[in-house]
Amino acid sequence: MVEHLNIDKLVLEDSKKVNQYALDTIKNKIILGDALEVMKKIPDESIDLVFIDPPYFLQLPKKKLVRWNVKTNVEGVEDEWDKFESFEEYDSFIQKILTQTSRIMKENATIWIISTYHSVHRIGKIMQDLGYWLLSDIIWLKNNPMPNWLGVRFTNATETIIWAVKDKKSKKYTFKKELAKKYGVGKVGANVWVIPLCTGKERLKKEDGEKLHSTQKPVELLKRIILTTSNEGDLILDPMAGTGTTGHVAKELKRDFIMIEREKKYIEGVKQRFKIAPNLKDRKKSSIEEEVERNS
Ligand SMILES: C[S@@+](CC[C@H](N)C(=O)[O-])C[C@H]1O[C@@H](n2cnc3c(N)ncnc32)[C@H](O)[C@@H]1O
Repeated sequence: MVEHLNIDKLVLEDSKKVNQYALDTIKNKIILGDALEVMKKIPDESIDLVFIDPPYFLQLPKKKLVRWNVKTNVEGVEDEWDKFESFEEYDSFIQKILTQTSRIMKENATIWIISTYHSVHRIGKIMQDLGYWLLSDIIWLKNNPMPNWLGVRFTNATETIIWAVKDKKSKKYTFKKELAKKYGVGKVGANVWVIPLCTGKERLKKEDGEKLHSTQKPVELLKRIILTTSNEGDLILDPMAGTGTTGHVAKELKRDFIMIEREKKYIEGVKQRFKIAPNLKDRKKSSIEEEVERNS
């Protein structure tokens, strides 16, 4: 059980009647609602760290995708929440979210945004246009990626996580360089994290055994983000929380959180998940990491 948290009071449904939330009302809650509306009600300069895992806008073709080598069907991200009419609509959504984020971040807060090649470059441009100052990016290398579908492109085994401040003048942000080095690859501690996709016991399942969420992020990823760039007692916002990985890890690491999620079907999963603490034990190095270490 995650300590000091009343699971019966974990979920708060957003209401049109509320114009502004007091921080104490929404701290350590997952708010059922639309991030575009809820974020407007969060007080200015109140957040220490933001993690956003937005829709990828994958634009998958409507036809069935079959893996070229084993002839099994590919389960991509086909959820309604990942669909937008056009790049303009997607950009406008990201721009609105990032405008609110900037307002509610404290002066020296930092923000992480994760995506794949489908949209991460658009997100980076929007961030720079809004005045964010990019500090680093982390390449998340999955050592168990989705198999290559048709063999017509490179195997997609990475996601990029941009890390930024909201203003170039923000200098006193939190950064634990020893941990950054520990998690990075090779003797130089390069900005590559080798972490498997979320599978096995960690993956939330529906009653029929299918995955509850198509893009549940690994606990290890959030652990590294939270430990390297926040302090105990900090307040962490995740406005598109899905299965609630951010809050789950944050609480175990003695941080507070505010999460927002629009889909009711995931919220029940988040409640169940909070009954058991996440496993934050350091994982064994992968063979890729060991090889780089040997050769660097
Ligand atoms: C990529 S997933 C996040 C997965 C999450 N990091 C996890 O570990 O489970 C994006 C989530 O954003 C939610 N979402 C999309 N648009 C939203 C909005 N306007 N407000 C709140 N949530 C939204 C989707 O329902 C989806 O669960």
